[in-house]
Amino acid sequence: MNDAPNPVTSVPAATLPRHTTLSTLESLIWTELDLAVHSRASADRPAHPWRRAAFATVGEDGPEVRSIVLRDLQADRRELVFYADARSPKVAQLRADPRGQILCWSEPLGWQVRLACTIEIATDGLDVTARWARIRHRPAAHDYLSPLAPGSPLEAPAVPLAPERVRESFAVLTARVRAIDWLELHAQGHRRARFEHGREPQWLVP
Ligand SMILES: Cc1cc2nc3c(=O)[nH]c(=O)nc-3n(C[C@H](O)[C@H](O)[C@H](O)COP(=O)(O)O)c2cc1C
Repeated sequence: MNDAPNPVTSVPAATLPRHTTLSTLESLIWTELDLAVHSRASADRPAHPWRRAAFATVGEDGPEVRSIVLRDLQADRRELVFYADARSPKVAQLRADPRGQILCWSEPLGWQVRLACTIEIATDGLDVTARWARIRHRPAAHDYLSPLAPGSPLEAPAVPLAPERVRESFAVLTARVRAIDWLELHAQGHRRARFEHGREPQWLVP
């Protein structure tokens, strides 16, 4: 777990050799995800485009997708971490069906990854306490301090804050990546590959 900001030093797609092996490519994808979760926007540079991802769940009425911020990763365990309000619809959907998909796109790389995941939800324990301690005084903590559940109707746009900075609504979501669908858009020909845990990686028709 490391929140230290890193510079965004992506491998430009143009320099990725055309003869790259699938195992090298898989390592590069995780390196890129590592750069993304630790990147921060600064005055002269935006955050890595993969830091903000789209996250899809299976809802009662079909698929539901929204933006999230990737906060952490454990590449050796194929896990990505993000945060949510425990009362939010996405968490309710995950309690009913833990399958989710994370979508990342990088214009500079020309890379899209679709990560098929199984999500674990944690609202207590040492890890949750430590993560909350690190964000509780940041503006991001406001996302988990509303006395009302996300999606509750309001009379006015401003959401009241809870009087105390309790963390009972703060949930840490750990996405265990089961499969990666990688797509590269490239002037010399698009490429696509699939990496599935327990199976041989495979080039695919883009
Ligand atoms: C750029 C951006 C980043 C966001 N990051 C998160 C996040 O990390 N976690 C989260 O729960 N919601 C995040 N949101 C809000 C969600 O996209 C969504 O609107 C909200 O969580 C309600 O989703 P739900 O009703 O499906 O639970 C973000 C929204 C934007 C626009």
